[in-house]
Amino acid sequence: MKEKLLELKNQALAELDQVTTPDQLKDLRVKYLGKKGPMTEVLRGMGALAAEERPIIGQIVNEVKSELEEAINAKTEIIEAGALKQKLETEKVDITLPGRKQTAGHLHPVTLTLREVKKIFMRMGFEVMEGPEIENDYYNFEALNLPKDHPARDMQDTFYITEEFLLRTQTSPIQARTMQSREPNSPIRMIAPGTVYRNDYDATHSPMFHQVEGLVLGENISLADLKGTLETFCKEMFGNTVEIRLRPSYFPFTEPSAEIDISCVICGGKGCRVCKQSGWLEILGSGMVHPNVLKMSGYDPEKINGYAFGMGIERIAMLKYGIDDLRLFFENDLRFIRQFK
Ligand code: FA5
Ligand code: MG
Repeated sequence: MKEKLLELKNQALAELDQVTTPDQLKDLRVKYLGKKGPMTEVLRGMGALAAEERPIIGQIVNEVKSELEEAINAKTEIIEAGALKQKLETEKVDITLPGRKQTAGHLHPVTLTLREVKKIFMRMGFEVMEGPEIENDYYNFEALNLPKDHPARDMQDTFYITEEFLLRTQTSPIQARTMQSREPNSPIRMIAPGTVYRNDYDATHSPMFHQVEGLVLGENISLADLKGTLETFCKEMFGNTVEIRLRPSYFPFTEPSAEIDISCVICGGKGCRVCKQSGWLEILGSGMVHPNVLKMSGYDPEKINGYAFGMGIERIAMLKYGIDDLRLFFENDLRFIRQFK
């Protein structure tokens, strides 16, 4: 028995000598020290031994086991050290390489433009108002002097939800909402940015777009105030050399009404493809608030008057960044979006 154990030990140590990989080591450990290995078998067979032999053999088994255990552990260390050394020698790490950057998002060009418009008007003392995108017929049309069956309703292709509710086609309903939220006849100087919807789709029209409304009410406000304020806005937005002109137009809620053009930012007014050789670009609608609009929202047109305007934000962004197709804003092509930071 004793000889058999020593023989086993020597055999194991000889095999251990040949081992070069962690996997081989693991196999060897299982082979000799595992539950199904020869040591366990010897211990199991102890019952057959004479009583006085049992402690002696038991002791030898334990000695052989711990000796093998130690030898395997020592070999493990050697193999692991070798593996690490090899790894360090073959895997070269360039510690001077820059780290991986976290990519941060940025604002959409329409948002950037909207923020700039807001900033310019806030510096001139305008407050910022908001209104609902799902609007009722009354605020979107009636309160703006557009009764049912008024032909000018056709100017805006409306998405109706029910007969009474619709997606607002303009930010103008916030004019009436603001007036009605104030003491009658109190002065107002506000802008109202927001998303609006129309059944339109081509290179300069999107079914969803953004407007900024403006409303200024007080005593003795004139067309000169409108022109001065909007000229200041245009120069801040597009640069000091830009010129504006007022072109007679029609809106049911203003009288007189004017569309405001700026001298073409691409050719400086000489005439080019973008301004269709006219030298001018339309950027917004405006006018003196119609007396009916004031009356319907509790203001007295004998005492209070003022002006209103509404501009398309995508249009401003297109001019500012020289973009010739409005649909690019909403296609979410990162190669386009990433150019505006
Ligand atoms: C209006 O919406 C008036 N509410 C503006 C106004 C306000 C006039 C206050 C007077 C007083 P208009 O339909 O022209 O007007 O639209 C204003 C601007 O919105 C246009 O100049 C254009 O820049 C933009 N716009 C209109 N339709 C679209 C569309 N489908 N896609 C993108 N921009 C559009
Ligand atoms: Mg227009």
